[in-house]
Amino acid sequence: MQQYFFQLGNTPELSLAELQVVLPGTIFSQVHPDLASAKLDDNVDVASLMEKLGGTVKIIKVLANKEGTAKENLEAVLAQVLADTHPQEGKIHFALAELGRDHLPMLDPTDVKRALVEMGYGARFVEGSRHGLSASVLLHSQRVRELYVIQTSEKIFLGETAAVQNIDEWSRRDRSKPYADRKKGMLPPKVARMMVNMGLGMLQREQQTQIPLLLDPFCGSGTIAMEALLSDCDVIAGDLDSDAVHGTRQNLDWLNTVQPFDGTYAVVHQDATLIKIPKDRKVNLLVTEPFLGKPRPNPAKLPFIFKGLEKLYLGAFKHWTKILNPGAAVVIVFPVVETNNNGKQIRYDLRKLIDKISHLGYTTHSEPILYHRPQAVVQREIHAFIFQPGK
Ligand SMILES: C[S@@+](CC[C@H](N)C(=O)[O-])C[C@H]1O[C@@H](n2cnc3c(N)ncnc32)[C@H](O)[C@@H]1O
Repeated sequence: MQQYFFQLGNTPELSLAELQVVLPGTIFSQVHPDLASAKLDDNVDVASLMEKLGGTVKIIKVLANKEGTAKENLEAVLAQVLADTHPQEGKIHFALAELGRDHLPMLDPTDVKRALVEMGYGARFVEGSRHGLSASVLLHSQRVRELYVIQTSEKIFLGETAAVQNIDEWSRRDRSKPYADRKKGMLPPKVARMMVNMGLGMLQREQQTQIPLLLDPFCGSGTIAMEALLSDCDVIAGDLDSDAVHGTRQNLDWLNTVQPFDGTYAVVHQDATLIKIPKDRKVNLLVTEPFLGKPRPNPAKLPFIFKGLEKLYLGAFKHWTKILNPGAAVVIVFPVVETNNNGKQIRYDLRKLIDKISHLGYTTHSEPILYHRPQAVVQREIHAFIFQPGK
């Protein structure tokens, strides 16, 4: 077994939930708010693992650890670790990052460099922030070995970045796709990927053997459909708005040219509460971000708005019982708005729905996870259900 640290993205809870489903049976411990640790089998290829994940920024491989928290000339130890693991004779280009050590004086990279030179190595230090180089710098500096010193309450871990998120591809899918409708509120591709992974992880073993068919009946610009196709699913996407249907088609065609995939896709102009699926197919994954109301709702109208949304969602859940396979996974965004009325905090959400849809066969799979952009009025709560008719 090999120990790793996982640097989690902006919503660490969601990133961790994704890791837990992608690596079932692995025990993760969250050592800092945005850092988790786990031991993986020696045969796990962390570069391919990183390609799957939406919520992990870096995977750091532990090279050595020391009991206690004293400084004890860490620079010399770091130089030795670098030298011992350096694959060839050439110059060592290194960066130095520290996590969980903000209360301590910074390590001095010139001491590491000096120790390397004394051992006979050429060495170059690449300067970055104390918490590490950005994913984009690392991605474009293949020769640089980024060392991490990670402090937990009992130990100091010395590690090296073993995989980094391909930020170029994530930004390309976010910003360069032909169709976007930002007024409707698009999901960031990383969040869409985490939702798809959560759904895939929830599928039972017998369903995992076939190519999953994923439905997003409120597809907007097709963010979820794109991440699903890159995760080896077949996809049906639908929307009530013909621009969204046309735009999603354009986006999926474009994706197939820049990051070719094997899955098939269809984009249909249909209402999510009535959507039809070809007779010979059943959906085993429904991942969606439905209509959430306006991004800046009038506070006085919120009770009325949420009543309308509840009706729309309930109608959709009722209809989906006809097209979902038994054991299907549903990962869906519910809107949440919190207001402050003269010091009184009011929360509007759709949690009342959970009881109603349980009678239709939808069972909560895991605790909902809140995701929101810093300035957003409408927050998104990600819910996961398993559909089992007759339950
Ligand atoms: C929040 S957006 C989805 C955005 C999408 N996740 C993305 O990242 O681009 C919700 C979408 O639901 C569509 N919509 C609203 N009511 C619908 C209905 N009854 N059936 C199907 N689509 C509907 C809207 O046109 C809109 O495109």
